[in-house]
Amino acid sequence: MSINHGQTLTLDDIVHQYGGALAVDHVTLEIKAGELVALLGPSGCGKTTLLRIIAGFIAQTSGKVVAGGRRIDELPPAERGVGIVFQNYALFPHMTVAENVGYGLAARGTDKAAARKRTSEMLDMVQMGHLADRLTKQLSGGQQQRVALARALAIEPRVLLLDEPFSALDKSLRLDMQIEIKRIQRAAGTTAIIVTHDQEEALSMADRVAVLNQGALEQFAPPSQVYDHPATYFVNQFVGTANVLHATLESISGDRACLRLADGTALMSRGPAGLATGSSVVACIRPENLCVSVGDEGVPASVEFGMPLGATIVHELRTDSGQRLKISEQRKPGAVPREPGTRLRVWPASVDSVAVFSSMQASA
Ligand SMILES: Nc1ncnc2c1ncn2[C@@H]1O[C@H](COP(=O)(O)OP(=O)(O)O)[C@@H](O)[C@H]1O
Ligand SMILES: [Mg+2]
Repeated sequence: MSINHGQTLTLDDIVHQYGGALAVDHVTLEIKAGELVALLGPSGCGKTTLLRIIAGFIAQTSGKVVAGGRRIDELPPAERGVGIVFQNYALFPHMTVAENVGYGLAARGTDKAAARKRTSEMLDMVQMGHLADRLTKQLSGGQQQRVALARALAIEPRVLLLDEPFSALDKSLRLDMQIEIKRIQRAAGTTAIIVTHDQEEALSMADRVAVLNQGALEQFAPPSQVYDHPATYFVNQFVGTANVLHATLESISGDRACLRLADGTALMSRGPAGLATGSSVVACIRPENLCVSVGDEGVPASVEFGMPLGATIVHELRTDSGQRLKISEQRKPGAVPREPGTRLRVWPASVDSVAVFSSMQASA
Protein backbone atom coordinates (compact mmCIF):
# COMPACT_ATOMS: atom_id res chain seq x y z
CA MET A 1 0.00 0.00 0.00
CA SER A 2 1.41 3.36 -0.94
CA ILE A 3 1.63 5.90 1.83
CA ASN A 4 0.09 9.23 0.94
CA HIS A 5 1.06 11.97 3.28
CA GLY A 6 -1.72 14.23 4.34
CA GLN A 7 -1.69 17.96 3.90
CA THR A 8 -2.41 20.80 6.23
CA LEU A 9 -5.91 22.13 5.69
CA THR A 10 -6.94 25.65 6.55
CA LEU A 11 -10.44 27.02 6.59
CA ASP A 12 -9.99 30.75 6.63
CA ASP A 13 -12.99 32.77 7.80
CA ILE A 14 -15.58 30.67 5.94
CA VAL A 15 -19.09 32.06 5.70
CA HIS A 16 -21.95 30.30 3.94
CA GLN A 17 -25.45 31.51 3.32
CA TYR A 18 -28.29 29.57 1.72
CA GLY A 19 -30.42 32.34 0.29
CA GLY A 20 -30.51 34.69 3.25
CA ALA A 21 -29.98 32.02 5.91
CA LEU A 22 -26.59 31.86 7.58
CA ALA A 23 -25.38 28.23 7.78
CA VAL A 24 -21.64 28.80 8.44
CA ASP A 25 -20.63 31.81 10.48
CA HIS A 26 -16.98 32.92 10.09
CA VAL A 27 -15.34 29.56 10.76
CA THR A 28 -11.54 29.48 10.90
CA LEU A 29 -9.79 26.13 11.48
CA GLU A 30 -6.17 25.15 10.98
CA ILE A 31 -5.80 21.39 10.69
CA LYS A 32 -2.36 19.79 10.81
CA ALA A 33 -1.08 17.28 8.27
CA GLY A 34 -2.13 13.76 9.30
CA GLU A 35 -4.47 15.04 11.98
CA LEU A 36 -7.94 13.57 12.60
CA VAL A 37 -10.40 16.32 13.49
CA ALA A 38 -14.00 15.77 14.54
CA LEU A 39 -16.59 18.39 13.62
CA LEU A 40 -19.09 18.02 16.44
CA GLY A 41 -22.42 19.73 16.82
CA PRO A 42 -26.18 19.26 16.78
CA SER A 43 -28.16 18.60 13.63
CA GLY A 44 -28.35 21.70 11.44
CA CYS A 45 -25.24 23.43 12.84
CA GLY A 46 -23.49 23.47 9.45
CA LYS A 47 -21.25 20.38 9.53
CA THR A 48 -22.26 18.94 6.17
CA THR A 49 -22.17 22.38 4.60
CA LEU A 50 -18.53 22.79 5.69
CA LEU A 51 -17.57 19.39 4.26
CA ARG A 52 -19.26 20.19 0.98
CA ILE A 53 -17.37 23.46 0.79
CA ILE A 54 -14.04 21.67 1.33
CA ALA A 55 -14.91 18.98 -1.23
CA GLY A 56 -16.07 21.60 -3.73
CA PHE A 57 -19.71 20.59 -4.12
CA ILE A 58 -20.82 24.03 -3.05
CA ALA A 59 -19.00 27.36 -3.14
CA GLN A 60 -18.73 29.31 0.11
CA THR A 61 -20.18 32.80 0.27
CA SER A 62 -16.80 34.10 1.50
CA GLY A 63 -13.54 32.87 2.99
CA LYS A 64 -10.79 30.60 1.72
CA VAL A 65 -9.96 26.89 1.72
CA VAL A 66 -6.21 26.22 1.65
CA ALA A 67 -4.61 22.75 1.49
CA GLY A 68 -0.86 22.26 1.71
CA GLY A 69 -0.38 26.01 1.44
CA ARG A 70 -2.31 26.21 -1.82
CA ARG A 71 -5.76 27.64 -2.33
CA ILE A 72 -8.00 24.76 -3.49
CA ASP A 73 -11.40 26.40 -3.47
CA GLU A 74 -10.95 27.59 -7.03
CA LEU A 75 -10.34 24.02 -8.27
CA PRO A 76 -13.05 21.60 -9.42
CA PRO A 77 -13.82 18.81 -6.89
CA ALA A 78 -11.81 16.11 -8.74
CA GLU A 79 -8.63 18.22 -8.60
CA ARG A 80 -8.70 19.02 -4.90
CA GLY A 81 -7.15 15.78 -3.62
CA VAL A 82 -10.13 15.34 -1.33
CA GLY A 83 -11.88 11.99 -0.73
CA ILE A 84 -15.33 11.97 0.79
CA VAL A 85 -17.50 9.32 2.43
CA PHE A 86 -21.07 10.53 2.32
CA GLN A 87 -23.57 10.10 5.11
CA ASN A 88 -25.53 7.48 3.12
CA TYR A 89 -22.34 6.11 1.43
CA ALA A 90 -23.77 6.90 -2.04
CA LEU A 91 -22.37 3.75 -3.64
CA PHE A 92 -23.34 2.88 -7.21
CA PRO A 93 -25.81 -0.01 -6.72
CA HIS A 94 -25.49 -1.42 -10.26
CA MET A 95 -21.69 -1.70 -9.95
CA THR A 96 -19.65 -4.32 -8.20
CA VAL A 97 -17.59 -3.60 -5.12
CA ALA A 98 -14.39 -3.42 -7.21
CA GLU A 99 -16.01 -1.14 -9.80
CA ASN A 100 -17.13 1.23 -7.08
CA VAL A 101 -13.66 1.40 -5.58
CA GLY A 102 -12.02 1.83 -9.00
CA TYR A 103 -14.48 4.48 -10.14
CA GLY A 104 -12.49 7.53 -9.06
CA LEU A 105 -9.31 6.11 -10.56
CA ALA A 106 -11.00 5.51 -13.92
CA ALA A 107 -12.50 9.02 -13.81
CA ARG A 108 -8.99 10.41 -13.32
CA GLY A 109 -7.68 8.42 -16.28
CA THR A 110 -5.45 6.13 -14.22
CA ASP A 111 -3.82 3.38 -16.27
CA LYS A 112 -5.98 0.20 -16.12
CA ALA A 113 -3.39 -2.15 -14.60
CA ALA A 114 -2.41 0.42 -11.96
CA ALA A 115 -6.08 1.02 -11.14
CA ARG A 116 -6.69 -2.72 -10.71
CA LYS A 117 -3.70 -3.03 -8.40
CA ARG A 118 -4.73 -0.03 -6.31
CA THR A 119 -8.32 -1.27 -6.11
CA SER A 120 -7.29 -4.66 -4.84
CA GLU A 121 -4.92 -3.10 -2.27
CA MET A 122 -7.73 -0.91 -0.98
CA LEU A 123 -10.15 -3.84 -0.79
CA ASP A 124 -7.61 -5.90 1.14
CA MET A 125 -7.09 -3.01 3.53
CA VAL A 126 -10.80 -2.86 4.40
CA GLN A 127 -11.03 -6.67 4.35
CA MET A 128 -13.44 -6.79 1.43
CA GLY A 129 -11.20 -8.49 -1.16
CA HIS A 130 -13.28 -11.66 -1.07
CA LEU A 131 -16.41 -9.71 -2.10
CA ALA A 132 -14.83 -7.73 -4.97
CA ASP A 133 -17.29 -9.04 -7.58
CA ARG A 134 -20.47 -8.63 -5.57
CA LEU A 135 -22.99 -5.86 -6.32
CA THR A 136 -22.97 -3.26 -3.57
CA LYS A 137 -26.75 -3.50 -3.13
CA GLN A 138 -26.14 -7.05 -1.85
CA LEU A 139 -23.96 -5.87 1.04
CA SER A 140 -24.70 -5.22 4.72
CA GLY A 141 -24.42 -1.70 6.14
CA GLY A 142 -20.97 -2.35 7.59
CA GLN A 143 -19.71 -3.82 4.32
CA GLN A 144 -21.07 -0.86 2.34
CA GLN A 145 -19.29 1.43 4.70
CA ARG A 146 -15.98 -0.35 4.11
CA VAL A 147 -16.46 -0.06 0.35
CA ALA A 148 -17.26 3.65 0.64
CA LEU A 149 -14.09 4.12 2.68
CA ALA A 150 -11.99 2.13 0.19
CA ARG A 151 -13.47 4.19 -2.65
CA ALA A 152 -12.60 7.46 -0.91
CA LEU A 153 -9.05 6.28 -0.13
CA ALA A 154 -8.37 4.78 -3.59
CA ILE A 155 -7.66 8.17 -5.11
CA GLU A 156 -4.94 8.76 -2.48
CA PRO A 157 -6.64 11.81 -1.05
CA ARG A 158 -4.55 14.33 0.84
CA VAL A 159 -7.66 15.07 2.84
CA LEU A 160 -10.33 12.53 3.77
CA LEU A 161 -13.82 13.74 4.73
CA LEU A 162 -16.30 11.48 6.51
CA ASP A 163 -19.88 12.66 7.01
CA GLU A 164 -21.51 10.80 9.92
CA PRO A 165 -20.10 7.56 8.51
CA PHE A 166 -21.34 5.29 11.29
CA SER A 167 -24.92 6.45 11.66
CA ALA A 168 -26.31 3.40 9.81
CA LEU A 169 -24.36 0.88 11.90
CA ASP A 170 -25.36 -0.85 15.10
CA LYS A 171 -23.38 -0.17 18.22
CA SER A 172 -20.86 -3.04 18.23
CA LEU A 173 -20.07 -2.71 14.54
CA ARG A 174 -19.75 1.03 15.00
CA LEU A 175 -17.01 0.60 17.57
CA ASP A 176 -15.13 -1.83 15.28
CA MET A 177 -15.36 0.60 12.37
CA GLN A 178 -14.28 3.56 14.49
CA ILE A 179 -11.11 1.73 15.43
CA GLU A 180 -10.63 0.52 11.86
CA ILE A 181 -10.95 3.99 10.34
CA LYS A 182 -8.58 5.46 12.86
CA ARG A 183 -6.05 2.69 12.13
CA ILE A 184 -6.29 3.18 8.37
CA GLN A 185 -6.11 6.96 8.67
CA ARG A 186 -2.99 6.69 10.84
CA ALA A 187 -1.36 4.16 8.54
CA ALA A 188 -2.01 6.30 5.47
CA GLY A 189 -1.07 9.53 7.23
CA THR A 190 -4.15 11.16 5.74
CA THR A 191 -5.53 14.40 7.11
CA ALA A 192 -9.12 13.62 8.03
CA ILE A 193 -12.29 15.33 9.17
CA ILE A 194 -15.07 13.25 10.63
CA VAL A 195 -18.47 14.85 11.08
CA THR A 196 -20.56 13.62 13.97
CA HIS A 197 -23.28 14.69 16.38
CA ASP A 198 -22.14 11.98 18.80
CA GLN A 199 -19.88 13.43 21.47
CA GLU A 200 -18.45 10.06 22.50
CA GLU A 201 -17.46 9.33 18.92
CA ALA A 202 -15.77 12.72 18.62
CA LEU A 203 -13.93 12.40 21.93
CA SER A 204 -12.77 8.84 21.30
CA MET A 205 -11.59 9.20 17.71
CA ALA A 206 -10.27 12.70 17.19
CA ASP A 207 -6.91 14.32 17.82
CA ARG A 208 -8.83 17.58 18.14
CA VAL A 209 -12.52 18.35 18.31
CA ALA A 210 -14.15 21.40 16.70
CA VAL A 211 -17.48 22.14 18.37
CA LEU A 212 -19.97 24.01 16.20
CA ASN A 213 -23.13 25.76 17.30
CA GLN A 214 -25.46 27.47 14.82
CA GLY A 215 -22.71 27.68 12.22
CA ALA A 216 -20.09 29.17 14.55
CA LEU A 217 -17.02 27.53 16.06
CA GLU A 218 -17.25 27.44 19.87
CA GLN A 219 -14.05 25.55 20.68
CA PHE A 220 -11.24 23.75 18.86
CA ALA A 221 -9.11 21.69 21.22
CA PRO A 222 -7.99 18.14 22.14
CA PRO A 223 -10.82 15.91 23.46
CA SER A 224 -9.82 16.01 27.13
CA GLN A 225 -9.52 19.79 27.01
CA VAL A 226 -12.99 20.12 25.48
CA TYR A 227 -14.43 17.82 28.14
CA ASP A 228 -12.56 19.16 31.17
CA HIS A 229 -12.33 22.81 30.17
CA PRO A 230 -15.25 23.65 27.91
CA ALA A 231 -14.81 27.15 26.52
CA THR A 232 -18.50 28.01 26.58
CA TYR A 233 -21.70 26.97 28.29
CA PHE A 234 -22.87 25.41 25.02
CA VAL A 235 -19.79 23.16 24.83
CA ASN A 236 -20.20 22.26 28.49
CA GLN A 237 -23.79 21.12 27.87
CA PHE A 238 -23.29 19.48 24.49
CA VAL A 239 -20.21 17.45 25.41
CA GLY A 240 -21.14 15.19 28.28
CA THR A 241 -23.69 15.70 31.03
CA ALA A 242 -23.57 18.61 33.43
CA ASN A 243 -25.33 19.71 36.57
CA VAL A 244 -26.16 23.39 36.54
CA LEU A 245 -26.44 25.39 39.77
CA HIS A 246 -27.52 29.02 39.77
CA ALA A 247 -25.25 31.27 41.80
CA THR A 248 -23.83 34.75 42.28
CA LEU A 249 -20.15 35.44 41.69
CA GLU A 250 -18.96 36.82 45.03
CA SER A 251 -15.24 37.25 44.65
CA ILE A 252 -12.31 36.30 42.46
CA SER A 253 -8.80 35.61 43.61
CA GLY A 254 -6.25 34.48 41.05
CA ASP A 255 -7.63 31.54 39.12
CA ARG A 256 -10.28 30.74 41.73
CA ALA A 257 -13.69 32.25 42.39
CA CYS A 258 -16.08 32.13 45.28
CA LEU A 259 -19.74 31.60 44.36
CA ARG A 260 -22.84 31.87 46.51
CA LEU A 261 -25.51 29.30 45.64
CA ALA A 262 -29.21 30.14 45.78
CA ASP A 263 -29.54 28.34 49.14
CA GLY A 264 -26.71 30.41 50.67
CA THR A 265 -23.98 27.76 50.39
CA ALA A 266 -20.53 29.05 49.39
CA LEU A 267 -18.85 27.14 46.56
CA MET A 268 -15.34 27.56 45.12
CA SER A 269 -14.91 27.27 41.35
CA ARG A 270 -12.17 27.70 38.84
CA GLY A 271 -11.60 31.19 37.55
CA PRO A 272 -14.38 32.69 35.46
CA ALA A 273 -13.19 34.20 32.18
CA GLY A 274 -14.25 37.80 31.88
CA LEU A 275 -17.00 37.81 34.51
CA ALA A 276 -17.46 40.58 37.06
CA THR A 277 -18.12 40.06 40.76
CA GLY A 278 -21.78 40.43 41.64
CA SER A 279 -22.92 38.92 38.33
CA SER A 280 -25.37 36.04 37.98
CA VAL A 281 -23.59 32.86 36.98
CA VAL A 282 -24.13 29.15 36.58
CA ALA A 283 -21.82 26.64 38.22
CA CYS A 284 -21.47 23.45 36.17
CA ILE A 285 -20.31 20.16 37.66
CA ARG A 286 -20.23 16.84 35.83
CA PRO A 287 -22.00 13.95 37.59
CA GLU A 288 -18.74 12.02 38.04
CA ASN A 289 -17.21 15.05 39.75
CA LEU A 290 -19.85 15.18 42.48
CA CYS A 291 -19.12 13.17 45.62
CA VAL A 292 -21.22 12.09 48.56
CA SER A 293 -19.73 13.85 51.61
CA VAL A 294 -19.01 11.86 54.73
CA GLY A 295 -19.12 14.86 57.10
CA ASP A 296 -21.66 17.66 57.18
CA GLU A 297 -20.06 19.65 54.38
CA GLY A 298 -22.00 19.89 51.15
CA VAL A 299 -25.39 20.55 49.67
CA PRO A 300 -28.17 18.59 51.42
CA ALA A 301 -30.28 16.49 49.06
CA SER A 302 -32.60 13.49 48.84
CA VAL A 303 -32.34 10.55 46.44
CA GLU A 304 -35.15 10.54 43.88
CA PHE A 305 -34.03 7.38 42.10
CA GLY A 306 -30.93 5.38 41.27
CA MET A 307 -29.82 3.52 38.16
CA PRO A 308 -27.20 0.76 38.20
CA LEU A 309 -25.36 1.13 34.89
CA GLY A 310 -22.90 -1.74 35.25
CA ALA A 311 -19.63 0.05 35.79
CA THR A 312 -21.25 3.05 37.46
CA ILE A 313 -24.32 3.92 39.52
CA VAL A 314 -26.15 7.14 38.70
CA HIS A 315 -28.45 8.76 41.24
CA GLU A 316 -30.87 11.56 40.51
CA LEU A 317 -31.05 13.83 43.54
CA ARG A 318 -33.16 16.79 44.56
CA THR A 319 -31.47 19.37 46.72
CA ASP A 320 -33.35 20.91 49.64
CA SER A 321 -33.59 24.12 47.61
CA GLY A 322 -35.33 22.17 44.83
CA GLN A 323 -32.55 21.71 42.24
CA ARG A 324 -32.09 18.42 40.44
CA LEU A 325 -28.59 16.94 40.40
CA LYS A 326 -27.12 13.81 38.88
CA ILE A 327 -24.28 12.03 40.59
CA SER A 328 -22.31 9.19 39.03
CA GLU A 329 -20.20 6.86 41.17
CA GLN A 330 -18.01 3.87 40.42
CA ARG A 331 -20.01 0.73 41.12
CA LYS A 332 -18.35 -1.95 43.25
CA PRO A 333 -19.41 -5.57 42.66
CA GLY A 334 -22.71 -6.23 44.43
CA ALA A 335 -23.52 -2.55 44.97
CA VAL A 336 -27.17 -1.55 44.47
CA PRO A 337 -28.65 1.96 44.19
CA ARG A 338 -29.67 3.89 47.31
CA GLU A 339 -33.37 3.84 48.17
CA PRO A 340 -35.49 6.83 47.11
CA GLY A 341 -35.75 9.28 50.01
CA THR A 342 -32.23 8.56 51.31
CA ARG A 343 -30.71 11.77 52.72
CA LEU A 344 -27.17 12.74 51.81
CA ARG A 345 -24.90 15.68 51.10
CA VAL A 346 -22.98 16.20 47.88
CA TRP A 347 -19.93 18.26 47.11
CA PRO A 348 -17.60 18.69 44.11
CA ALA A 349 -14.53 16.46 43.99
CA SER A 350 -12.28 19.49 43.47
CA VAL A 351 -12.39 23.21 42.86
CA ASP A 352 -11.12 22.49 39.36
CA SER A 353 -14.18 20.39 38.56
CA VAL A 354 -16.51 23.39 38.95
CA ALA A 355 -16.83 25.47 35.79
CA VAL A 356 -18.56 28.81 35.79
CA PHE A 357 -20.32 30.66 32.98
CA SER A 358 -22.43 33.77 32.76
CA SER A 359 -26.16 33.18 33.29
CA MET A 360 -26.66 35.01 30.01
CA GLN A 361 -24.82 32.26 28.12
CA ALA A 362 -26.94 29.67 29.91
CA SER A 363 -30.24 31.26 28.99
CA ALA A 364 -29.28 32.06 25.38
N1 LIG B 1 -29.42 23.12 0.20
C1 LIG B 1 -29.83 23.85 1.24
N2 LIG B 1 -30.63 24.92 1.07
C2 LIG B 1 -31.03 25.68 2.09
N3 LIG B 1 -30.68 25.48 3.36
C3 LIG B 1 -29.87 24.44 3.62
C4 LIG B 1 -29.40 23.57 2.58
N4 LIG B 1 -28.60 22.63 3.13
C5 LIG B 1 -28.59 22.88 4.44
N5 LIG B 1 -29.34 23.97 4.74
C6 LIG B 1 -29.52 24.57 6.08
O1 LIG B 1 -28.25 24.97 6.56
C7 LIG B 1 -28.08 24.65 7.92
C8 LIG B 1 -26.89 23.72 8.10
O2 LIG B 1 -27.18 22.48 7.48
P1 LIG B 1 -26.14 21.29 7.47
O3 LIG B 1 -24.83 21.79 7.03
O4 LIG B 1 -26.73 20.19 6.66
O5 LIG B 1 -26.09 20.89 9.01
P2 LIG B 1 -25.57 19.56 9.74
O6 LIG B 1 -24.82 18.73 8.75
O7 LIG B 1 -24.73 20.06 10.85
O8 LIG B 1 -26.80 18.85 10.25
C9 LIG B 1 -29.41 24.06 8.36
O9 LIG B 1 -30.17 25.08 8.94
C10 LIG B 1 -30.02 23.56 7.07
O10 LIG B 1 -31.43 23.55 7.16
MG1 LIG C 1 -25.15 16.74 8.11
